Amino acid sequence: MDAAEFRHACGVFATGITVATVMGRDGKPHGLTANSFCSVSLHPPMVLVCVAHKASTHGPFAAASSFAINILSENQRELSVRFASSHSNRFEGVNWRKGECGAPVLDDSLAVLECATRERIAAGDHTIFLGEVRQATVKDGRPLVYFGGGYGELK
Ligand SMILES: Cc1cc2nc3c(=O)[nH]c(=O)nc-3n(C[C@H](O)[C@H](O)[C@H](O)COP(=O)(O)O)c2cc1C
Repeated sequence: MDAAEFRHACGVFATGITVATVMGRDGKPHGLTANSFCSVSLHPPMVLVCVAHKASTHGPFAAASSFAINILSENQRELSVRFASSHSNRFEGVNWRKGECGAPVLDDSLAVLECATRERIAAGDHTIFLGEVRQATVKDGRPLVYFGGGYGELK
């Protein structure tokens, strides 16, 4: 399978955008932009997110017992860019708080799913983190959308 063809094919699957977050053992927040989020189970409520081994946040994710999925609204495009960048402190100037499960929750997210980490599954060059959702909050608004390598909004 050609890598470029694989990426191209996956890229036509329109997704929302999340910032997946964990609290590090150093007491600092960590997070990355991720569109590999997916709901998995209703009973119990479970979701997954895939994190690349090479991502600087992989270590903190692997060590944490909880994570949060912050689903971004159409007004939060800058956060998506920032959390996919090499910014030295991605949380600088960002309004966030420690959630019920301990993971960082970004203010103004369209929805937040706070999860207890249940499984870490090795999958190629990524790890699949399966979490049981302990708390979900949703706000009014419209989602940030990603399609064909670019951002968009729902019409
Ligand atoms: C739209 C978009 C979606 C992304 N989805 C994922 C993802 O699901 N999993 C992942 O590991 N990286 C994903 N990335 C890449 C990471 O956000 C980015 O590589 C990472 O934050 C860089 O981290 P580092 O420089 O700290 O290693 C995505 C990037 C973008 C722009």
